[in-house]
Amino acid sequence: MRAIGFDTGAPPTYPRAVSRAPTPPPIRYEERAPAPPDGPVDLLALIEGDGPLELDVGFGRGRSFLERARARVGRIVGIELKAKLAYEVEQRRAREGLVNARAFRADARELLERAGPDGCVTRVFVHFPDPWWKKRHAKRMVVTDAFLDTLARLIGVGGELYVATDVEERAAEYEARLAAHGAFDVRRIDENPFARSNREVRADEDGLPVHRLLARRR
Ligand SMILES: C[S@@+](CC[C@H](N)C(=O)[O-])C[C@H]1O[C@@H](n2cnc3c(N)ncnc32)[C@H](O)[C@@H]1O
Repeated sequence: MRAIGFDTGAPPTYPRAVSRAPTPPPIRYEERAPAPPDGPVDLLALIEGDGPLELDVGFGRGRSFLERARARVGRIVGIELKAKLAYEVEQRRAREGLVNARAFRADARELLERAGPDGCVTRVFVHFPDPWWKKRHAKRMVVTDAFLDTLARLIGVGGELYVATDVEERAAEYEARLAAHGAFDVRRIDENPFARSNREVRADEDGLPVHRLLARRR
């Protein structure tokens, strides 16, 4: 016999259990960013294989670095100061199976000063460096005479240094530095024959001029 007044015949309903996935702990980029070895660094030992070696200094979000790695023209080492960017780009490189590339978190000036062997690098990319304008930030500048000395030591004869910027004053300053340095023949070029960086793509989209320098190691 059915209970009067209570049994409606509808299946019973229960309060819906709310299942929320626990929030993952924040990634500690400082700890997890890929660090280069301490002490003297053999750049040729960082990546397996024996193709020509390129460097992407301050790769930011990594577009140029990853594209160059995908083109498999040789090997490429990326160096980025910001831990989060270095971590994310290195993760992506590994996910894509780009075994000819490695991204590291480091100050390129400090890392390359203790790197060798001399003449082991074929090409260096420095896309849109030095977004600093205040005098107190001068110590952060990457393309300095000291950095050019380091690159002149690492780049083999006939190797290249590519520098791009959207600031004409900076391009003129880099050009003058390179011309005065003595180890490079420098010229302006209209197109980027290698791989565009995130900043370069954005500059193109915004219709901003990009100033490009190609310096050849004497
Ligand atoms: C204006 S952003 C350009 C990023 C990227 N190359 C592009 O063109 O889209 C400059 C980048 O250089 C990095 N950087 C600045 N000083 C550096 C240094 N000493 N060593 C390595 N990376 C550096 C910054 O963290 C930043 O990601």
